[in-house]
Amino acid sequence: MVKVGIVGGTGYTGVELLRLLAQHPQAEVAVITSRSEAGLAVADMYPNLRGHYDGLAFSVPDSKALAACDVVFFATPHGVAHALAGELLAAGTKVIDLSADFRLQDADEWAKWYGQPHGAPELLKDAVYGLPEVNREQIRQARLIAVPGCYPTATQLGFLPLLEAGIADTSRLIADCKSGVSGAGRGASVGSLFCEAGESMKAYAVKGHRHLPEICQGLRRAAGGDVGLTFVPHLTPMIRGIHSTLYATVADTSVDLQALFEKRYADEPFVDVMPAGSHPETRSVRGANVCRIAVHRPQGGDLVVVLSVIDNLVKGASGQAVQNLNILFGLDERMGLSHAGLLP
Ligand SMILES: NC(=O)c1ccc[n+]([C@@H]2O[C@H](COP(=O)([O-])OP(=O)(O)OC[C@H]3O[C@@H](n4cnc5c(N)ncnc54)[C@H](OP(=O)(O)O)[C@@H]3O)[C@@H](O)[C@H]2O)c1
Repeated sequence: MVKVGIVGGTGYTGVELLRLLAQHPQAEVAVITSRSEAGLAVADMYPNLRGHYDGLAFSVPDSKALAACDVVFFATPHGVAHALAGELLAAGTKVIDLSADFRLQDADEWAKWYGQPHGAPELLKDAVYGLPEVNREQIRQARLIAVPGCYPTATQLGFLPLLEAGIADTSRLIADCKSGVSGAGRGASVGSLFCEAGESMKAYAVKGHRHLPEICQGLRRAAGGDVGLTFVPHLTPMIRGIHSTLYATVADTSVDLQALFEKRYADEPFVDVMPAGSHPETRSVRGANVCRIAVHRPQGGDLVVVLSVIDNLVKGASGQAVQNLNILFGLDERMGLSHAGLLP
């Protein structure tokens, strides 16, 4: 059994970790933290977990208790893992961070986008970007995993086949992305209120979103050089889901894009390339650790349109984090993650 600690157990990605790990045959949650709900039984806060975590209660983060775990997930706002990860790693505990703390390899770039100095630049050399479809071998050997963000997961998986094959004009890529409201976390904010987000849709952070440098970092690696990306996120009135509509121009219109995508993801258990002409729906991946993709070339022109959907809390966060745990501990990558999405 892998002994698991979770820092930030009351948030949306924290409770999603609990839901997924409740069905995981090789993982046992030993510590779950919350500063505001310390002492409260997990099932008293989240009744969907009644019967799964009897006797487990939230506790204030304690580095000794966390260091006694084999692995600790950070489901916390940025900056928290910077402060605690070093001590855990020194004790031999592996760290899987769902926040952005270790996603960018350049500490100065991180400081620019997050508006504060990087709190643990000395750990960056150990950090592996936890996108298994790209870094599976490095993840196996890692002790510190930076789980990709939700927009970056859907967007990179959609663009990767085109960029790795070198057939797209990388100077003018466009990612037009929609997110459900749970992407903003459980903390109260006016923009997330039912009356503000319901029955409406809007773009935000067009000038520059924090996920932009993370997506560009991954796309540069895939393309083997610089990329120009316009990334426009939108808030949509659904609870879960990311829908990325991606645009790229190709010079050679004779390439069989359907075959290219199917071949790239043929051995990937959590990427589903749909039949030609499909339109994936976010509801088809709700609750499932799946990225569902379709590739189009409208009217046979040189503009490729890729549609990529995930559940932001599963393949976009906690499911991908559990996938990383499985790889890290030499378990079947699908363990605890093979359920289908919730539909309708
Ligand atoms: N929501 C998504 O779809 C999504 C997707 C991918 C990645 N992420 C990332 O995952 C992380 C968690 O997101 P979330 O949506 O689950 O956030 P959330 O709902 O706001 O929850 C944050 C959790 O962190 C704890 N926390 C806050 N400050 C802390 C501190 N200083 N020390 C220890 N614990 C602290 C909170 O509990 P207490 O305050 O009670 O301690 C709470 O349990 C974020 O970095 C987010 O960017 C989120």
